[in-house]
Amino acid sequence: MTSLPPARILAIETSCDETACAVIENGRALLASTVASQMELHARFGGVYPEVASRQHVLSIVPVVEQTLAQANITLSEVDAIAVTRGPGLAGSLVVGMNMAKGLALGLNLPIVGVNHLEGHIYSAWVYDSPALRGDAIPPEPQFPLMALLVSGGHTELNLMTEHLTYKRLGSTLDDAAGEAFDKVARLLSLPYPGGPSIQRAAERGDPARFKFPRARLDSPYDFSFSGLKTAVLYTVNDLKKESKYLPVEDLAASFQAAVVETLFEKTMQAAREFKAREILVAGGVSANRALREAFQSQTEFRVNIPALSLCTDNAAMIAAAGYYRYALGHLSGLEMDVQPTWALSD
Ligand code: KG4
Ligand code: ZN
Repeated sequence: MTSLPPARILAIETSCDETACAVIENGRALLASTVASQMELHARFGGVYPEVASRQHVLSIVPVVEQTLAQANITLSEVDAIAVTRGPGLAGSLVVGMNMAKGLALGLNLPIVGVNHLEGHIYSAWVYDSPALRGDAIPPEPQFPLMALLVSGGHTELNLMTEHLTYKRLGSTLDDAAGEAFDKVARLLSLPYPGGPSIQRAAERGDPARFKFPRARLDSPYDFSFSGLKTAVLYTVNDLKKESKYLPVEDLAASFQAAVVETLFEKTMQAAREFKAREILVAGGVSANRALREAFQSQTEFRVNIPALSLCTDNAAMIAAAGYYRYALGHLSGLEMDVQPTWALSD
């Protein structure tokens, strides 16, 4: 894509509980990225508390943007366009980032681009975080057609991408998202929030073969379902509690994680084969999971793009990358744009 124009994008992301800002050059080279996490604020509620999230974004947004500019060592006059997460997410959170982005675009007379958060996750695979890299050291750009597995706290879906900004959804979850299943099972096992990293930690010392949890068989091969698995863990936990006081949390976590990873891996591989993908891309918070990364990295049939760990969970670098391709390919938004709390990727 050498024909695309050079541009520096400043992006803002406030869809959930992270206040984030980043600057990216030409869609790939990360100059700076700041993520102010509200994790500790929400941990005592066992999940994100929307009203608290919104108020915290208001407090954090200006310092986060200032810190990002300082880290990138640029001023606002050196930015070519503003990108912002428009949805999906919490309305009260999205609106804080949206207003900041509109204020910047209006004040600086810059174009503004609304980005779908899920598209952002996918474009995290384009980002490399050392602008000093040159020539051969730059990681290769993902190549189309690619099979994208998107696994986050709110979404689990398989999308075929044949070109930039184009998604054919092959399947998605019929009930819980993969990250949601991690979070709910962690709660069942009394592991701390957020559940994904807690389960991963416990699973590392556990036996993944101890419990045979179900892998959902569905009519459509590329849909997912994790609620049966979650219920199976619940019944097993209840039975174990009846029998004895000791709960083998590590074996339960490992066996649950193995069931999720196997399902995500097998379906993605099957879809990549059927649609003759050149590459596989895995993105979203759950792509930080070590067992999932290892499953994809240890096969040799397809080249696999999985973002660096810092780019798997919510951040603004990914919004800047997606925003760049939208900007470069002429998909600009206007200042009349509003947040879109519910927004499917392929719309
Ligand atoms: O993409 P993300 O940061 O936010 C959404 O857009 O939803 O994803 C958050 C989800 C949470 O459910 C969290 O438990 C999960 O990603 N997650 C993980 C890991 N790190 C985060 N799941 C499994 N293993 C991990 N290491
Ligand atoms: Zn996300």
